[in-house]
Amino acid sequence: MIVCRSAEEIDKLARVNALVAQVLAELMRVVEPGVSTLDLDQLAERRLREAGALPAFKGYHGYPATICASVNEQVVHGIPNARLLTSGDIVSVDMGAKLDGFFGDSAVTVPVGIVTAQAQRLLDVTSASLDRALSAVTPGNRVQDIGAAVQQHVEAQGFSVVREFVGHGIGTALHEEPQIPNYGTPGRGARLAEGMVLAIEPMVNAGKPAVKVLSDGWTAVTKDGSLSAHFEHTVVVTAEGCRILTLRPAGA
Ligand code: MF3
Ligand code: CO
Repeated sequence: MIVCRSAEEIDKLARVNALVAQVLAELMRVVEPGVSTLDLDQLAERRLREAGALPAFKGYHGYPATICASVNEQVVHGIPNARLLTSGDIVSVDMGAKLDGFFGDSAVTVPVGIVTAQAQRLLDVTSASLDRALSAVTPGNRVQDIGAAVQQHVEAQGFSVVREFVGHGIGTALHEEPQIPNYGTPGRGARLAEGMVLAIEPMVNAGKPAVKVLSDGWTAVTKDGSLSAHFEHTVVVTAEGCRILTLRPAGA
């Protein structure tokens, strides 16, 4: 069953997701050569706790950190570590939080220093694919309209969509129904309705779509070693389309 949230519940979801967006914006400003993903993780956890929230990923199926930090060929679920980021890297920062019983979830991939034109194009195409996905979110549309919008844009640009990980409903649990693949056939899947809250998160590889999980049990990497990018917003379906709950303050 896909839950439709009341106005009061949406207020709570808006609050925790705004916090996620604000902390993510700060992390984006901190990213530069010489900073480690562990530094980002510690800052993220401090900011969430200062706001009275809890990290949502820490302890989830044993995940050890507040953020997922996935560098270069890492697709998702990279575990923060002390290695220093260097110019030319791209780093996906994914963060979830829990506040007042409700969850927030958002991710962004940022360049470190100066990156190649190809890396920048991957970031731009993946971000734009999320925008296309959000444009497909409106009452009466279907879940696969979302993935189809991502897939169409990504493949037209010569990149590929990761199949093994999906977006999801979100509310009083981090992962709720429905699953939201980043590929699909328009007109298929569950019908979207006002009040549904969805975390939409395209993962896009510069090369082939295949991924594998490293021996740490978490880090997903591209099989061909190509770069990968990941963007995620949590949104609520409204009468007019959708409202992005993880919108970052302008300029962030
Ligand atoms: N944004 C990802 C998701 O929704 C991150 C989850 S990391 C985990 O699944 F540690 F919580 F698994
Ligand atoms: Co998510």
